[in-house]
Amino acid sequence: MENTKAKDTRRTFGRKLMLGGAGLAALQAVPGWLHAAGATGTAEASRWAQSAAPGQPEPTASFTGDASLKAHAAARGLFVGAAVNLGLLTREPGYRQTLIDQCNIVVAENAMKWAPMRPAPDQFFFDDADRFVAFAEEHGMAVRGHNLCWHEQLPPWFAATVNKQNAEQYLVQHIKTVMTRYKGKIRAWDVVNEAIKPEDGKPEGLRDSPWYRLLGPRYLEIAFRTARSVDPAALLTYNDYDIETDGAAQGAKRQAVMGLITRLKQGGVPIDALGVQSHLSAGSASKIDGGLAALVAQTRALGMKVFITELDVNDDSLEGDDGADREKSVAGIYGSYVGSMLSSPAVTDVLCWGVADRYSWLNSKGKDGSKWRPKHPDREEVCLPFDNNYQPHPAFFALRAALGSRKA
Ligand code: G3I
Repeated sequence: MENTKAKDTRRTFGRKLMLGGAGLAALQAVPGWLHAAGATGTAEASRWAQSAAPGQPEPTASFTGDASLKAHAAARGLFVGAAVNLGLLTREPGYRQTLIDQCNIVVAENAMKWAPMRPAPDQFFFDDADRFVAFAEEHGMAVRGHNLCWHEQLPPWFAATVNKQNAEQYLVQHIKTVMTRYKGKIRAWDVVNEAIKPEDGKPEGLRDSPWYRLLGPRYLEIAFRTARSVDPAALLTYNDYDIETDGAAQGAKRQAVMGLITRLKQGGVPIDALGVQSHLSAGSASKIDGGLAALVAQTRALGMKVFITELDVNDDSLEGDDGADREKSVAGIYGSYVGSMLSSPAVTDVLCWGVADRYSWLNSKGKDGSKWRPKHPDREEVCLPFDNNYQPHPAFFALRAALGSRKA
């Protein structure tokens, strides 16, 4: 099941979620979106035109201390951070130090998902998650919890064990146990992850997931109400991908996501934030247009926050092989996307899905050996703010400048 769904996710990211130069120009044209960031037409056009080299550093440019991402974020009341791989945290000093230097919020890339946490139906494995939360506490970082209810990364025993009679019990017990352990230590929890998939043809555009098949649409309400009952201070989040660009499928998904969170919020279900994953792509024709701006504005109007939860930029659609050119294109997207999103006061947290390129999920292979980079399978993506030696890419400086552009 996981393989199929992972492939589905890969296909979606690889083919649908694309953002290119044309997309940037289109975003520029959205009234009240980029312009709300303090950019006027001409200045903004110039900024976009220069997006090939935003914040291009001198070779010796400083990037820690006052020059770090977290210093720029904290000065504006923002959170910035990354998804953490627990293995790397132990064995790569440079990785660990980069997290310490740059992040005031972190999220576990995998360690708090069902499969790693649930070795058996009656067992919980907390060692990695405990170590992760302790690391964050030691270094004064906030924590995002990812995630409590998802169709992927379910444990091998799940399908044969969980049925319509006991599914609610399993879901409630899991949420209570995990959230109780970390109560008061988690800024925000992804309570439900990726519940929308309009192509599945279910009411409200809900995904035909194991949780949907077991409990119907009410699984979302069960999850959110249980979460609130355990940790009233945690920001309860609905998190999804492929809702950024203006393609037809993305528009339909965005509309379904908006419909879902509106129904939950207006129905009194405790939900505090929307996570826009932001797995973006460089060099393709699809665009980010007014749809995302409207989503952010409507979410804000509901009294909810918006988080950028899993930012990275897939460079597979860039034709040229020159690494520096690709870095510049990717940086342009980091800067323009984050700057635009931060023009809304609803957007308060920006997390990248990793730190350095080599260990990005985009540079890994699926279990079946298939690649995330179908067009350039042998080319390592430059998709994150740091290179493999933990030196900043142009994307770092673009991201930092975007954080710095936040209006007080
Ligand atoms: O840890 C096991 C290992 O014990 C086992 O031997 C090996 C065999 O394949 O698998 C290892 O687990 C892998 C895990 O990553 C840790 O490396 C899983 O197979 C693999 O499916 C898993 O991929 C993760 C994927 O989510 C599925 O959970 C990626 O690292 C992670 O970056 C990705 O993150 C997701 C977000 O959670 C949700 N949004 C999309 C995002 C990207 O797909």
